[in-house]
Amino acid sequence: MSMKAMLIKKYGNPDEFYLGNTNKPTIKEDEILIKVYGSSVNPVDTSIRKGYLKSFVRLKLPAILGVDASGEVVEAGKSVRKFKVGDKVYAFMGISNNGGYGEFISIPETFAAKIPDNLDVTEAGVVPGVGMTAYEAFTIHAPVKIGMKVLIIGATGGVGTYAIQIAKYLGAEVTAVCRSEKVNLARLLGADYVVDYKSQNILSTKERYDVVLNCVRGIGFGKIKSLLKSGGKSIVIAGSPLELPFIKLSNLFSSKKTIPFFVKTDGTILERLSQLIQAGHVKPVIDKIYSWKELSEAHICVERGGVTGKIGISVD
Ligand SMILES: NC(=O)c1ccc[n+]([C@@H]2O[C@H](COP(=O)([O-])OP(=O)(O)OC[C@H]3O[C@@H](n4cnc5c(N)ncnc54)[C@H](OP(=O)(O)O)[C@@H]3O)[C@@H](O)[C@H]2O)c1
Repeated sequence: MSMKAMLIKKYGNPDEFYLGNTNKPTIKEDEILIKVYGSSVNPVDTSIRKGYLKSFVRLKLPAILGVDASGEVVEAGKSVRKFKVGDKVYAFMGISNNGGYGEFISIPETFAAKIPDNLDVTEAGVVPGVGMTAYEAFTIHAPVKIGMKVLIIGATGGVGTYAIQIAKYLGAEVTAVCRSEKVNLARLLGADYVVDYKSQNILSTKERYDVVLNCVRGIGFGKIKSLLKSGGKSIVIAGSPLELPFIKLSNLFSSKKTIPFFVKTDGTILERLSQLIQAGHVKPVIDKIYSWKELSEAHICVERGGVTGKIGISVD
């Protein structure tokens, strides 16, 4: 059986995407087959497309990219317990299990969660990767407690828009760093203080924070560490692997801890985030939904920067 997908034959520019036919996936006992309605463009999708992660992610070309997917379960393996045919689900598939830009995808049931009733199934495709990253950061790696001072750098992008809302929900005093045009959005999402990165360098502030989440590439962990209170934690999601040995060493000798992590493909984390969305505490921020046939433009848009929240993909 075949299906349609946006494919790439080789790594390269956004114009490598083409609509083609490929094999429809089959499922193992513990997997579900999803008819995909929605996906998204993450910075990591653009890095995979360019071949930057070739040494970590072995894609068989032609390949379908897309680390997020939302849709409907159309088949469930024998040992699947959590889902049945007809359920609306979404998942972050991880950088080795791309496939959100195809008509169907098979994934282990453990990756998926049910989509909250108050989310459109196509729009839900923007949530998993970034939402889970923010949720995991503030509940597992640097648990945020009532009254803590939390700083979010890159606060109106994919991860940041969830991070503001989750930190506020957890009772923190939130400072958001974003560009001037998005100051109002950061406030609407719940930020108590907003710093415009074009006119003020957050690294020169005298304030000190319990938790810092940096969503911006290129700011070294040492600079972020200097913004922490004693005993504070900084979360690194956009760091360079070359920093890892220095982070380990620094953590040995300091009460200020730097925590690098890569978001897990864990449906139970997505379920907990879904509860916050269902209750109205967290809302996805969507800049624009592109049709999957406009995937090249969608990737260009993310690479250009200036996106508010997320770019979604409608697989239609
Ligand atoms: N480790 C993990 O598990 C994980 C998970 C998700 C994402 N990531 C990585 O984390 C990073 C953020 O992801 P994302 O999806 O949130 O990306 P994003 O949507 O591009 O957001 C990044 C934000 O940073 C802002 N920004 C750029 N320069 C800035 C500066 N100098 N000061 C303050 N803000 C600045 C951008 O604002 P403007 O564009 O408006 O200027 C944008 O809103 C990416 O590098 C991504 O690959 C890692």
